[in-house]
Amino acid sequence: MTAPSQSHNNSNPAALEREINRRRTFAIISHPDAGKTTMTEKLLLYGGAIQEAGSVTAKEGRSHTKSDWMSIEQQRGISISSSALTFEYRGKHVNLLDTPGHQDFSEDTYRTLTAADSALMVLDAARGVQSQTEKLFAVCRNRGIPILTFVNKLDRPALDAFELVAQVEETLKITAVPLTWPIGDGPDFKGVYDLLTNQVLTFDRTSGGKHRAPVHTAGLDDPKLDELVGPDLANKLREDVELIQGAMPAFDADTFLKGELTPVFFGSAINNFGVEHFLSHFVDLAPPPGPVDTNLGERDPDAPFAGFIFKLQANMSRAHRDRTAYMRVMSGHFERGMDVTHTRTGRKLRLSQAHTLFAQDREKVEEAFPGDIVGLVNPGVFQIGDVVSVDGKVTLPGFPRFTPETFATITLRDVGKRKAFMKGLTQLAEEGVVQVFYPTDGARDPYLGAVGPLQFEVFQARLQEEYGVDVDMHVTSYGLVRWLAGDPTNVARFARHVEDDQGRPVMLFRSKYDLEYTAEQHPEIEFLPLPKDL
Ligand code: G4P
Repeated sequence: MTAPSQSHNNSNPAALEREINRRRTFAIISHPDAGKTTMTEKLLLYGGAIQEAGSVTAKEGRSHTKSDWMSIEQQRGISISSSALTFEYRGKHVNLLDTPGHQDFSEDTYRTLTAADSALMVLDAARGVQSQTEKLFAVCRNRGIPILTFVNKLDRPALDAFELVAQVEETLKITAVPLTWPIGDGPDFKGVYDLLTNQVLTFDRTSGGKHRAPVHTAGLDDPKLDELVGPDLANKLREDVELIQGAMPAFDADTFLKGELTPVFFGSAINNFGVEHFLSHFVDLAPPPGPVDTNLGERDPDAPFAGFIFKLQANMSRAHRDRTAYMRVMSGHFERGMDVTHTRTGRKLRLSQAHTLFAQDREKVEEAFPGDIVGLVNPGVFQIGDVVSVDGKVTLPGFPRFTPETFATITLRDVGKRKAFMKGLTQLAEEGVVQVFYPTDGARDPYLGAVGPLQFEVFQARLQEEYGVDVDMHVTSYGLVRWLAGDPTNVARFARHVEDDQGRPVMLFRSKYDLEYTAEQHPEIEFLPLPKDL
């Protein structure tokens, strides 16, 4: 294939516009166990991307797992890697960014959220808003992306639906407007009422939720409703709807798009209750890709091609032991083999090794549009937050970075493996699995920094599995890192023999008190939670 020249980029503006408008790129946020994996699976089932529920989760006893390349995931039943899953639904091209649920991976999740245009918040109906939901919600809120809510597990005893809605409003400080309403809960869960179309959707429990659920509808005043759900639940529903219509604000699309209002749906992902119904509303409500804030101002999606790297991953699958950089297209028409400039280094690159990712399979991608995620083979060029574009000068100043809060030292068991160890350390640090700090006297092994301790275990397991290197880890009593800034002579005089992987001087502290004390003693030094040039 010959490389398209830059002048061909966006050569068909009408087609580009059409493709932009039908893109829906979103991520699911939730507290672990609320049902994100199940919801993902069911959305893919209804989106036709998989034939049978159960083929994407990493749970025991299911045949094809998306992440069986990493046994630690299976042991813990958690998904550690983010991937992008794509399907077509009613003419819309949906990209679902799969984010890890465990709190120690929030760093990765936060970065993935920078690539989403909207988010689906999944809540457990018995637990409501939980701590991890709050944190992830805050990230979406900061980015101003619209958030939809799905209250899951209505087949189990649930909190009162009015209470759940009030909890979302009070805890998250967002207007919550139910678009569906549950009919019963627990063993009595009968389905949901659609407040926009005034339809009742009842669902049959199907065996293991493996088939598309049948849907029956009837109006609220239809006596058939009493037959379907029983007179008690039918009357309760009529009362509830009256209360909702009298007391709750109406849904307003503009407020939703500003991220100030969340539409609330109810269902039970495992039983397929409400999932397809949610999806059909989602593709209408969720926005297509919009402009992105860059150093050059807002970049519209129909501008010439630009994309940013939001995630790196080494050794994605046993079949392809290489490094992948996940790029989100932010503007223009991406074509495989196109020539771009990598802003950070100024290097010209030809993007010929591009693929999409679905579970373990990859397919070559010939073209992509704003909102799409493309996997690029990364020969060590890309870092998280990097931009490539046809015009070459674009950067993303607001890309989120994180300050490690826990630190470990590592020692190599077999010194003969030093070379493989250094390779693993560099590649996994580049991915953001951990951050590495080196003692400058060269005498000791490096410190690893992480936001949560599970990151260390993942690092250790991956070093062993992917690089054949065994290390011992010792969590230290350090709890803070600060980058040193100020007059270079002062910094050089003060620097305490530790630097980050780019050679910037840092200092590790055991407590906030230690930091404050040192800062007081050394007003000539700035102690920064992130390097100054980020
Ligand atoms: P997560 O990714 O957010 O961590 O949650 P996941 O989908 O793995 O769901 C957590 C648990 O909740 C799973 O049970 C799952 O089957 C169950 N679950 C998900 N949706 C529903 C629902 O609508 N109703 C009910 N009753 N349960 C639901 P598990 O026992 O941990 O795993 P598994 O053995 O069932 O796979």
